[in-house]
Formats: sequence, C-alpha cells, structure tokens
Amino acid sequence: MGKTIIISNRLPIQLQISNGNIDAIPSVGGLATGMKSVHSGNESLWVGWSGLTQEDTPPELEKDIDEALEKNGCAKVNLSAEEVEGFYFGFSNRTIWPLFHYFLEYSEFELDFWNTYREVNRKFADAIIEKSSEDDVIWVHDYQLMLVPQMVREKRPNTSIGFFLHIPFPSYEIFRTLPWREEVLQGLLGSDLIGFHTYDYERHFLSSVRRLLGLEVSFNDIYLDNRVIKVDSFPMGIDYKKFKTAAQDHEQNKNTHKSDLQKRLDSHKASAPDTKLILSIDRLDYSKGIAKRINAFEYFLNKYPEYKEKVRLIILAVPSRSNVPQYQLLKREIDELVGRINGELATVNWTPIWYFYRSLPFENLIDLYTSSDIAWLTPLRDGMNLVAKEYIATRTDKTGVLILSEMAGSAYEMNEALLINPNNFEEQADTLKRAITMPEEEQKSRNTFLQNRLERYNVEVWANEFMNALKQKKEGGDDFISQ
Ligand code: ADP
Ligand code: G6P
Repeated sequence: MGKTIIISNRLPIQLQISNGNIDAIPSVGGLATGMKSVHSGNESLWVGWSGLTQEDTPPELEKDIDEALEKNGCAKVNLSAEEVEGFYFGFSNRTIWPLFHYFLEYSEFELDFWNTYREVNRKFADAIIEKSSEDDVIWVHDYQLMLVPQMVREKRPNTSIGFFLHIPFPSYEIFRTLPWREEVLQGLLGSDLIGFHTYDYERHFLSSVRRLLGLEVSFNDIYLDNRVIKVDSFPMGIDYKKFKTAAQDHEQNKNTHKSDLQKRLDSHKASAPDTKLILSIDRLDYSKGIAKRINAFEYFLNKYPEYKEKVRLIILAVPSRSNVPQYQLLKREIDELVGRINGELATVNWTPIWYFYRSLPFENLIDLYTSSDIAWLTPLRDGMNLVAKEYIATRTDKTGVLILSEMAGSAYEMNEALLINPNNFEEQADTLKRAITMPEEEQKSRNTFLQNRLERYNVEVWANEFMNALKQKKEGGDDFISQ
C-alpha cells in the first residue's frame, strides 16, 4: 500500500491573510481536531479547502500559501467565492446539515445548491486523482463530500476508498425527503468501506440503501454490481494523552504561569468558594441546543432558588457558518436570552451566565475544562460530541460531573455520565441539582470508568480500526463477486 490521502472540506488549519501576511489558525470542529491527531505529514497527505476563496488570494502569495500548507502535510483545493456560497454555505450547511440533524424545517432544497455541490465534489475528486497514485489509500470525510467516492471510483476502479461520516445519518423517513437522495447514496457507494459513529446511523443508512436503491444488503455488506461494500460503526475517540498531559502540566505550572482567563477563574473561586462552575462549549449551532440550555438554566434557578448565587453557567460558543441565516438568528436569540436572564437575575455579587462568543486557544480550553465542576452538554442532535470526552480526559483528580444529552453519539459510550433528554426541563433541573450535590466519591467512581474507556478507545485506535478494516477488505479479496 502507498500513503494515505485524507480528504475533507476543512483542513486542520485555516489560512487568513492580514496585511500581506499569511496566518494559519487551528480549525475548530470534531473532524479537524480529531483527524489532526492521526495525520502524520510523512505518511499521509491531507487535501482540503484552505478557508480562502480564489478572490481572497493574491496571486503573488500563491506559492507561500502552498508552502504554508505543505509544512503541515496539506494541499489545497481552490474554491471561488461563488462555489463556497453554493457548496459550503448552500448545499452542505443549508440542506444536508439541517436535514441530517432532524431540522427538516430548516432544510432548503435548491437546485442551484445541488449543482454547485456536484461540481465542487468533482473538483475534490480531480484533486485526489492528481495528487495520489493507484496504490494510495483514499479516506474521504464527511457530508460535504458524499459524491467524491464514486467520482474517484470511476477513474480508479481498483483503489481502496474509505468514507467516514462525522454527523448522524438520519432515519429513512427523514432522508427520503431529499430530492437527490439516490445520487447521494450512489456517491457514497463508490467506497469500499463506509463508517459511522454509531450502530444506529449505520442501520439508518442500510435501510435507505435497501429501500431507495433496492440493493441486496446482507448483515452489513451491500452488493452492488460486482462489488461488495462494507458498512460499520467506529465511534471516534479523542487524543486522550494530549488532554490528560495538558491538564497535568496546567496543574504543575499553576504557580508559575497563568493565563488571564485562569486568573479570572481563580479570583471567582476565591471570592465565592462555594459557587459551582457549570461549563458548556460548542460551536454556535442550532443542533447544539444552546438556547434551550439557557432556558433550562433559568427554569432550574426558578425551581431551586436556593442555588441563586451558588452556580454560574459559562457558555463558550465558537462562531460558526455565520453567513447562514439560521446561525445569525440563533446568535441574536442567544445574545437576547443571556442579556435578559443576567439582567433579571444578577445581583451585586453574582452574574448567572458568563458568555463568550469566540474561538479560544487550546490553553484556555484546558483552563475551562479543569476549572469547571460540571460540564453540561445538551445537543438536540450530535454525531458524536468530542467536548464531552475532552472534559472527562482533563479531570486528573477524577472529580467533575458530566451531564450529557442522550441525543449525542458519545452518549452511547458514556453511560456513567448523567444522561438527559434536552427537551425535558424538569429532568434537566433535577439533574443539575444532582450534579451539584453529587458526592466526590461517586464522581470519582464514574469518571474512573469513563477515563479508562476513553484512554483505551482513543482517536489513534479509532483511525487504526478504520484503516485496518479497509485494508482487510482489500486483502480479503471480497472486493469482487465472481460472476
Ligand atoms: P463539532 O464537531 O460539531 O463542532 P465536537 O464537540 O465533536 O463538535 O468537536 C468540537 C471540537 O472543537 C472539540 O475538539 C473542541 O476542543 C474544539 N473546540 C470547541 N470550542 C473551541 C474553542 N472555543 N476554541 C478552540 N477549539 C474549540
Ligand atoms: C462538524 C462537521 C465537520 C466540520 C465541523 C466544523 O464537526 O462534522 O465536517 O468541519 O463541524 O464546521 P465547519 O463548517 O466550520 O467546517
């Protein structure tokens, strides 16, 4: 086998140009942060969009941009502003993202979006063909590139192609509403192996293949012409060691080096030692249930007023897809909610919600994870949710309580967390109370199980399991059915 070609819309770094200089900033989101840990510049090449449009790229900087990417083991696919609009903001994030997260009413079925999606997928497929050789292994990622496997297969019939979906695959009843449903399935079926985070997403996909394409499906094998396509679930892990070590270093250096954020967190602790810090971190996305969480927090404070001045909710929302109208509306809704609740409930000594709308450096994420007594993550739908895993990994003394929505893929592996239905305010209020009052011994016992599992099924194991399954498929010779 040759090298691995990773292909995704988002690269691990985003390029920006300011005053004629190229800045590389780390990408946010589970795909980029997870894959970054398994991408090694020597053995794999990562092909994707740099974050700059062709119009934003001065021709004299082209060479420097390529070099900046090359240093990180990456190569770019150039996209024009119009392509980004129709492919990324359009079909990917106004059609597929809402549909696959069960926000059917937000999903827009626009022929122009679809046409651009197809053209841009073709561009990615062409880039793969250009940058890889026959014996390389192609690993395509996520919902932005679902047509790529088949487009590559047409030109490279014998190449090993894997596809991994980082978001949920919805039930057949939802998926069938997509006007281009057959084309999307056929695009994915260009792969040899298709991976999902959970068994449920896998089951939904197989059911759509059977019912919409009428193909023979046996257990998790799909029979198409003379090929067998394998489908399986691979729950993505985190770089456990990186988070654990960062938290240990943070603890060791606490007397010599402190970020401004950590100083603020410490002074809060010193002035109100009994106040519990509740943390939530998400991209600002309607699927994450941020507005509902804020409403549930207000509900909790009304139901259990004795906790006023005894808890503080920290909301870190990372700007995301801000050209999409639903994200702009959500931003406004959250601003208003936080303003209203803080205005109504704050006292001289207490602001109930600290709200940050920005991306933070890794060091500050660790400050927040390690300083918070509770992590409260309430997605209405989430393919996996790595933040839940990262929080647990940083709890070096094993204290801390994780409250997690049962609608997150990670809930399947994190049974020792307090699992909630994010639509049930009564349950959320009671669970918050339970988390606040949970004895340390119980916290430690739950987190011991969670940490052991996260350490074992880390992101490296995840990537190896996927690649081994792809390799076995090739070597096992079950690629072709004898006629
Ligand atoms: P999604 O992929 O939908 O964004 P995940 O929870 O799976 O959700 O992944 C989010 C990733 O983004 C995590 O790895 C997390 O560490 C990272 N991240 C979240 N918030 C920030 C932030 N403010 N700054 C930098 N990275 C962040
Ligand atoms: C999720 C998706 C990724 C995406 C990330 C950030 O994790 O599964 O494909 O990269 O969100 O979103 P963005 O639109 O900024 O790439």
